[in-house]
Amino acid sequence: MRLNQTPEWTALGKHREQLGATHLRELFAADPARGTKYTLAVGDLHLDYSKHLVTDETLELLRELARATGVAELRDAMFRGEKINNTEGRAVLHTALRAPRGAVIEVDGENVVPAVHAVLDRMAAFSDKVRSGEWTGHTGKRIRTVVNIGIGGSDLGPAMAYDALRSFTARELDFRFVSNVDGADLHEAVRDLDAEETLFIVASKTFTTIETITNATSARNWLLTNLRADESAVAKHFVALSTNAEKVADFGIDTANMFEFWDWVGGRYSYDSAIGLSLMIAIGPDRFREMLDGFHRVDEHFRTAPAEENAPLLLGLLGVWYGAFFDAQAHAVLPYSHYLSKFTAYLQQLDMESNGKSVDRDGNPVDWQTGPVVWGTPGTNGQHAYYQLLHQGTKVIPADFIGFARPVADLAPGLEAQHDLLMANFFAQTQALAFGKTPDEVRAEGVAEELVPHKTFRGNHPTTTILSDELTPSVLGQLIALYEHKVFVQGAIWNIDSFDQWGVELGKVLAKKIEPVLTEGRGGEQLDSSTAELVAKYRTMRGR
Ligand code: F6P
Repeated sequence: MRLNQTPEWTALGKHREQLGATHLRELFAADPARGTKYTLAVGDLHLDYSKHLVTDETLELLRELARATGVAELRDAMFRGEKINNTEGRAVLHTALRAPRGAVIEVDGENVVPAVHAVLDRMAAFSDKVRSGEWTGHTGKRIRTVVNIGIGGSDLGPAMAYDALRSFTARELDFRFVSNVDGADLHEAVRDLDAEETLFIVASKTFTTIETITNATSARNWLLTNLRADESAVAKHFVALSTNAEKVADFGIDTANMFEFWDWVGGRYSYDSAIGLSLMIAIGPDRFREMLDGFHRVDEHFRTAPAEENAPLLLGLLGVWYGAFFDAQAHAVLPYSHYLSKFTAYLQQLDMESNGKSVDRDGNPVDWQTGPVVWGTPGTNGQHAYYQLLHQGTKVIPADFIGFARPVADLAPGLEAQHDLLMANFFAQTQALAFGKTPDEVRAEGVAEELVPHKTFRGNHPTTTILSDELTPSVLGQLIALYEHKVFVQGAIWNIDSFDQWGVELGKVLAKKIEPVLTEGRGGEQLDSSTAELVAKYRTMRGR
């Protein structure tokens, strides 16, 4: 039965009508314990969902929808290694990347856990060598800069996590991340580097991604030119992270310098695999393992916690609720930590590449909303930019606020004290969004009548607050796993394949066709009139 024809969906629709314009102010007034009752603990994360437009009945109806759509069954199939990525015929086993050494998880009858740990051990040995200076470049100098070249999941994860865990990194080493095929990216990354002390990590699951292979080729040229060396220098300055040994060898990287992962790891679910090598060099193998343990804690929570206490299930259901019954198109993620500057960009790929789909698992068009537009930047910067729209705009945008009790870095006392100011803003924003300010409250401040509508805050904007003690490697792992499983839950309910990404293919194919038109003027007649005209203008500007 189609999702929106199920009795559970219909019941939710009716319930939404009954809820009408009920305000969070009323829900809080009706239940003084709401702020305590609607909270969950998962690992080291405290999750407050009291400022959501839900009642006990809403939550029960949403859980019934989860039961009816088989979320738990699909979850168990994923953890068992079944091929739930049906359009690619692959298992979805990022959870195996953080399974403990002794675990048994089989794909096609083979336990994958020993291979996972063998690669982790090789990564650890290599990281230790780079960190200690034992690994040297072609001329015998130690490595001082690591440049990760990759794009999408082969960039966003390590780049985000490196920033997030900056205060745990070996500060004597420098880490840079190159992803864009715009030559400016590589140029800016290497322009002040000493080739003798630079290690390139080429990260690509397929090792066919044009941006990455182009940048890696240019990096190799830069290296050999600057070292005035021949190809033999590559071995000491290039390592590869991939599933494709053949292509790695074709590129000229010795497969002894390759760290492997597997086709059951999706690109956007991969930074806890070999793709995390730059991060492991930065924070060291022990911290990396702590991060994996953090992931695993939330995996176990998701796998075993009852529906009423299951945090990823809850977050997933809330997103379904707003998308379907409030017509919410977007979801904001607003971390109150400078270290999480790239967190939302990372989640954009995780969520939007997974759930940006419009046909169901059987290829039928869906007529319900799927994944939202995920966006946001760290507070408090956003407060002085786009929060105006959150507070007084016309759109329903549920938001996640993520904050920490302690600044993780060893800050000077004055800077340490700023943390309370940061967090005062954190708490104030969800309060303002939920409860707003009524016209009467505005009038009571003596505001002129014509300004009252402008100074009124409607409130009733739903938010989740995630509060933790400190942004440690473990907590980062917990947060990422929480979002991975939230995305999973939503994909399961919407009955879409969250693990393929066919939507990125068309642009790639067309770019390949357009490139010779730009460079050689060949084939322009096949283009539509708009693109043909634009391309002609471009060629003129380039003096061709
Ligand atoms: O954008 C499509 C995509 O395949 C992503 O899913 C992936 O993370 C990215 O390209 C990079 O792919 P690869 O790691 O194979 O270079």
